[in-house]
Amino acid sequence: MPTQRVFSGIQPSGIPQLGNYLGAIRHWVRLQSDYSCLFCLVDMHAITVWQNPEELRHHTLTQAAVLLASGIDAQKHILFNQSAVFAHARLGWIFNCITRLGWLNRMTQFKDKTGKDRENYSSGLYVYPNLMAADILAYKATHVPVGEDQKQHLELTNDIAQKFNHDYSVAFFPQVKPLIPPTAARIMSLRDGTKKMSKSDPSSQSRIDLTDDADTIRLKIRRAKTDTAPLPDHSNDLTERPEAKNLVSIYAALTNTTIDHVLETYQGKGFSVFKEDLTEVVINAIVPIGQEAIRLLKNETYLLEILRNGADRASTLANPVVSEVEKIVGFLS
Ligand code: AMP
Ligand code: TRP
Repeated sequence: MPTQRVFSGIQPSGIPQLGNYLGAIRHWVRLQSDYSCLFCLVDMHAITVWQNPEELRHHTLTQAAVLLASGIDAQKHILFNQSAVFAHARLGWIFNCITRLGWLNRMTQFKDKTGKDRENYSSGLYVYPNLMAADILAYKATHVPVGEDQKQHLELTNDIAQKFNHDYSVAFFPQVKPLIPPTAARIMSLRDGTKKMSKSDPSSQSRIDLTDDADTIRLKIRRAKTDTAPLPDHSNDLTERPEAKNLVSIYAALTNTTIDHVLETYQGKGFSVFKEDLTEVVINAIVPIGQEAIRLLKNETYLLEILRNGADRASTLANPVVSEVEKIVGFLS
């Protein structure tokens, strides 16, 4: 029986795209055989930047449907939306009072997101990492699968755990370990090979949504930016060709091989041939997931029931932990 606990979260701030699948979702699916897992749709994190309420609702359900369609087992493991489990907000507040401003000021994601316009962002975005720490520590999770970009937030989680233990002289919270996939595919925009593929990119042509049908995928790949040179025989020769490199990495990631191995087959060939084959690989991997997700989305009651059941089981795990924290802090119980 697996005893180590995995917690991971994904923001329902758009339709999940190919980068989410290759960088996160398919690793989550694999982790299910070695850990007991909680997968959380972090709607409270999503509203740190403006979300249209109708869209937030739709994106949360779509995210749930895509995870189930990808092979997340909501019976053996736990799938739920964050706002349905009050423990996150309760512990998040306490962590707001543990974290020092200096620690938050060092968070590169906040600086990157807000740039020179910092004053106009929500205070929620600033304390975002405290809520993320609460997500994880409310379950005393031991392992957290994340992309490279979230590593700093996990270090902060460990700092918060340590300071809490120190300030209250307890050995309560464990240290958590990031699980960063060894071949962490970083999938880039189809329109600009230097930008990450993102569900919040204003151009829908820049990404492949997991709910795209075969014709849409065909068109997006045909239109994807490339250059005129044929494919080289070694990955080193792709460093100055970000768009070409991205398409080859997508092919490699989906066929579970390396860029160099893909180039063995395609060296000297032009993009018309390569794009045709890539299209088939993407369609075979993605379309069955998309179709199943769309089928699940037609039954909203079923999805709501799965999430409600997940939230009930998550609350059963988190409530005793957070009640104990509140007792340690000195709140009346
Ligand atoms: P986000 O869409 O930013 O909420 O990210 C959710 C998860 O998907 C995180 O674990 C990210 O690291 C991963 N992810 C998002 N976009 C990409 C991408 N373009 N390439 C690889 N992983 C990604
Ligand atoms: N910050 C994460 C991201 O943007 C999402 C997230 C929220 C998360 N809470 C978490 C990830 C807890 C792992 C564990 O990708």
